[in-house]
Amino acid sequence: MKVISGPASKELAEEVSAQTGFPNVPVLSKVFPDGESYVRLDGNVQGEEVAIVQTTCPPMQDGRLFQLAFLADAAKRTGATKVTAVVPYLAYARQDKMFLAGEGISVETIARMLKAAGIDHFLTVNIHSEPTLKQFPFPAKTLSAIPAIADYFVKKGYKGAFALSPDKGAMYIARQAQEVLGGDVGYLSKTRDRYTGQTVQTAEGLKVKDKTVIILDDIISTGGTIVGAAKILLEQGAKHVFCGCVHGLLIGNAEKRILDAGIEEIVGTNSVPGSVSKVSLAPLISQALKGAV
Ligand code: R5P
Repeated sequence: MKVISGPASKELAEEVSAQTGFPNVPVLSKVFPDGESYVRLDGNVQGEEVAIVQTTCPPMQDGRLFQLAFLADAAKRTGATKVTAVVPYLAYARQDKMFLAGEGISVETIARMLKAAGIDHFLTVNIHSEPTLKQFPFPAKTLSAIPAIADYFVKKGYKGAFALSPDKGAMYIARQAQEVLGGDVGYLSKTRDRYTGQTVQTAEGLKVKDKTVIILDDIISTGGTIVGAAKILLEQGAKHVFCGCVHGLLIGNAEKRILDAGIEEIVGTNSVPGSVSKVSLAPLISQALKGAV
């Protein structure tokens, strides 16, 4: 297998190559003056299985999706036998249902486009909803970075911390963290107005007084969910509040809002390279790719 460095995940792809021993294929890329993307494989993939590592987080998530599709096409046209897309953050994964009449299912559209471009196999990390993958037109799997994030906190001395999910749907995430942290687990209730996007969070029967709490979520976008959760936890007497997320999109001033709300540290992964990407996905992805060949 060879590992192709998608322009959005160059460092991660190089780490994966180093950890797997699979040769790295660099990519030359540019954006034309009119905004269109150009990519070119700078290596030979004839007769090879390839894994293209390319996250599709903002900014430019549409452009990054197209770069991924163009790389798959380039790989197939130059003789790759099988193309696995390794997409640490999959854009549009939250539009996985027709929530309102007249909507489409964006994530399924994306998957069909990627299939048409030449992708045969798909690997992602903590997709928003795992059942989504069953609708994809190729074998698809989601890995979980939550144990690695929880381990980051253990190494910082927070063994035994309370793992909190900011909504019931993400409780599986908190439970995975709890297995590593070894403390209690709980959740807040969150409801979202589908027209305004406004959310309301409530807590029932949470016992967090004087405890260290780590809020765990798949995505932080505007930070509203984490800020709301922090407010409730601090009102209920939590002593220290941290936050671990897989995909720290941190749109606008989300990072500042979260820290201003009393969260002591935000820990994310390099599915979204940036100031909070403190946990690398390279070991997780490398292990999965080694198991796939
Ligand atoms: C939604 O259900 C997700 O799991 C996240 O909780 C959500 O995307 C976070 O968004 P925001 O940071 O804008 O509250």
